[in-house]
Amino acid sequence: MRTLLVINSKGGCGKTTVTTNIASYYASTGLKVAIMDYDPRGSSLEWLKQRPSDLPQIHGANAVRQTGQQIRSLHM
Ligand SMILES: Nc1ncnc2c1ncn2[C@@H]1O[C@H](COP(=O)(O)OP(=O)(O)O)[C@@H](O)[C@H]1O
Ligand SMILES: [Mg+2]
Repeated sequence: MRTLLVINSKGGCGKTTVTTNIASYYASTGLKVAIMDYDPRGSSLEWLKQRPSDLPQIHGANAVRQTGQQIRSLHM
């Protein structure tokens, strides 16, 4: 398994754009792809919801640390 980390503390610098484009490309080549979104805004997961179902599947995981009863490792 290969992991790509797209990280920058600055908002609006293109993290989600880069991530979704890279994920789309690798999914189109037939690889199994998952996006783990560590941003509480979860923009890439919202993008995944709108992705047409006939396109190669990309799995989404909310990696934001949860408060309360939710188990973070379950999401991951
Ligand atoms: N290379 C780029 N050139 C021009 N606009 C871009 C580029 N990359 C991203 N954007 C735009 O910048 C805005 C913020 O990008 P986004 O990927 O949401 O940033 P982040 O996830 O880091 O907050 C979006 O409107 C996006 O379309
Ligand atoms: Mg983003």
